[in-house]
Amino acid sequence: MRIYKTSDYNEMSRKAAHIIAAQVTLKGQSVLGLATGSSPVGTYKRLIELNSNKDLNFSEVFTVNLDEYKGLTPEHEQSYRYFMNDNFFNHINIKAENTHVPDGMAENPELECKRYEELICSLGGIDLQLLGIGHNGHIGFNEPGADFVPCTHCISLTESTIEANKRFFDDVEQVPREAYTMGIKAIMQARCVLMVISGKEKALIAKESFLGPITPQVPASILQLHNNFILVGDEAALSWL
Ligand code: GLP
Repeated sequence: MRIYKTSDYNEMSRKAAHIIAAQVTLKGQSVLGLATGSSPVGTYKRLIELNSNKDLNFSEVFTVNLDEYKGLTPEHEQSYRYFMNDNFFNHINIKAENTHVPDGMAENPELECKRYEELICSLGGIDLQLLGIGHNGHIGFNEPGADFVPCTHCISLTESTIEANKRFFDDVEQVPREAYTMGIKAIMQARCVLMVISGKEKALIAKESFLGPITPQVPASILQLHNNFILVGDEAALSWL
């Protein structure tokens, strides 16, 4: 595990963007696993700048996103497909058909999970997986539970996640109760995992995840076992280091 402690969110974003840029520069056809949430937004902004300056080319890149709310259309402003288009894909020279997000409107959830898992395999797995972390240690929407779930699955969101994510909706009732998420296997098989973490409210879960025991009760703790895991965080989130 490599840890970079940065002064603030902007520096964290710059560092993370440079790591992703290096990956894409070295391998134009990289498969990037991508994340939503406020943590990676600054990273996407830096990557957009690099792309608009012609310092970075996404024309051959493939992306697979971690997760999507069940029941939200791609046009819904809180869907993760909308988030990705709005914060990243619409502003870079990536081919729309090379970007993948689970289909929140799929008629058959089981088939959708199977399709997404097969898609990740058919792309040859993930070169670099970008992650944020939930307040309860979730990665993607792999919520705390009795086991680490290996494959793409549909999950009932915990009350704490619904509570944390209600800020994006008009009221808590509108937060979907279920979501699709990539499983732990595809994340752990990524050739590099890069987590961005910011703010003092994430300090405790970061400490539990990376200094505590490896347990499915803290899903991010499994990253301690990854042989190429990079944690980029600001001083507030990594104050325990
Ligand atoms: C959501 C996403 C996660 C993300 C988390 C934290 O629950 N499914 O992938 O890491 O939010 O978001 P934020 O970075 O806004 O704290």
